[in-house]
Amino acid sequence: MHIAVVGLSHRTAPVEVREKLSIPEHTMESSLQSLRGHEQVLEASILSTCNRLEIYTLVQHPEQGISAVREFLSGHSGLPTDDLTPHLFTFHHQEAVAHLLRVSAGLDSLVLGEGQILSQVKKMMRLGQEHKSIGPILNRLLTQAVSTGKRVRSETNLGTGAVSISSAAVELAQLKLGQSRGLDQLVSLESEQVAVVGAGRMSRLLLQHLQAKGCSGVVLLNRTRERALTLAADFPSLPVQCRSLEDLDHCLSTCSLVFTSTAADEPIIDAARLQGLNRRSSLRLIDIGVPRNIASDVTGLPGVEAHDVDDLQEVVARNQEARQQVAREAQGLLDEEGRLFLEWWDSLEAVPTINRLRASLEEIRTEELQKALSRMGPDFSARERKVVEALTKGIINKILHTPVTELRSPQTRAERQQALRVVERIFDLTPPVQG
Ligand SMILES: NC(=O)c1ccc[n+]([C@@H]2O[C@H](COP(=O)([O-])OP(=O)(O)OC[C@H]3O[C@@H](n4cnc5c(N)ncnc54)[C@H](OP(=O)(O)O)[C@@H]3O)[C@@H](O)[C@H]2O)c1
Repeated sequence: MHIAVVGLSHRTAPVEVREKLSIPEHTMESSLQSLRGHEQVLEASILSTCNRLEIYTLVQHPEQGISAVREFLSGHSGLPTDDLTPHLFTFHHQEAVAHLLRVSAGLDSLVLGEGQILSQVKKMMRLGQEHKSIGPILNRLLTQAVSTGKRVRSETNLGTGAVSISSAAVELAQLKLGQSRGLDQLVSLESEQVAVVGAGRMSRLLLQHLQAKGCSGVVLLNRTRERALTLAADFPSLPVQCRSLEDLDHCLSTCSLVFTSTAADEPIIDAARLQGLNRRSSLRLIDIGVPRNIASDVTGLPGVEAHDVDDLQEVVARNQEARQQVAREAQGLLDEEGRLFLEWWDSLEAVPTINRLRASLEEIRTEELQKALSRMGPDFSARERKVVEALTKGIINKILHTPVTELRSPQTRAERQQALRVVERIFDLTPPVQG
């Protein structure tokens, strides 16, 4: 059995490819079932975020298992394998474990150390448990990934400072506004007419950062207006006008800066929509939705400047220097956690031998006990039988204790295999016939 991950991320694929592979929660169960339906795939879990789609599996054979996952991805996205493969990465065994721990810690994120990824890893574990697509191995790995993500954030400075895609989006707006004034620096958004489309988690973070960066007011549009009102209530010192999406055209005509962060499957703003408006000013659009909320055909429209999540790279690169040092410190902790998982995984190799050893000694115990009891005859009371039974079990457990502890203890693979062979020979444990 092998752990493998096949996936793609902002490092390997542009947003136009990533959005084709995104797996929304309502199709997660069928996707997991489809993966588990393959004979090679023993356990499966899916991490689907705006910047990555990663499929973690426990497979029988690495090559066949990985090719099964690639076929699934090709079928799901509608992209031929030849078009998809250049964007995919594949890691196997300890590299797969190390990759997941880096992801969970936020070290593989576009915004280094961002916190959302940890909740997304938790969600991947919850969905895998709910849909019964993960078993003991991935369950253990994902549990360890979550605890490692928490450890990194509590034991290093990686999580300090509010870092997220939303904070980067606000900084990009500040940078672009500065550049439009001939300055290569972040400037205040105070004079901008700002709108945020969507009222979910990312929009909440957008409001937080807009407020922190001096924005004087925001129009908040959402499909469900009540949700916008609830969100606005959490920002009493930021003037927020809540509107439904029907007011989107009006808002696109009057605002100068619009952020979009909805979970819509299709774009909600495109060239045709903008061309039909009588716009007052130039319009800067920043879309952090994946799939994108703004169609790519808006690029090049007069007076419109549009950015998607991949454009955040520009602003992120400016902040990464200091965080890289913290990331290097966090790596030591990840190495330690990865080693612990692999030790546990290696110790599983001893389980079949330990089970055969237990079964063999139990067989001897019951056989000898029966002989002894039959010799004792009917005079032996039920209570006395129980005492003798407990005595024999106690002896067997004492005998087993040292070899079982030794076989499970951390050691190299070669050492463990040698110990397993010795135990099998001494106790005459015939391995089961393969196949
Ligand atoms: N979570 C992250 O870490 C993260 C990071 C970067 C980018 N993103 C991207 O940002 C977007 C929002 O993520 P989120 O985590 O904030 O989601 P969320 O908390 O689930 O909120 C979803 C928002 O999208 C709206 N929405 C859903 N379907 C819609 C539709 N068909 N038309 C119009 N509005 C619709 C919802 O409106 P209602 O209130 O009416 O349901 C809600 O405002 C997603 O595209 C996501 O990929 C997320």
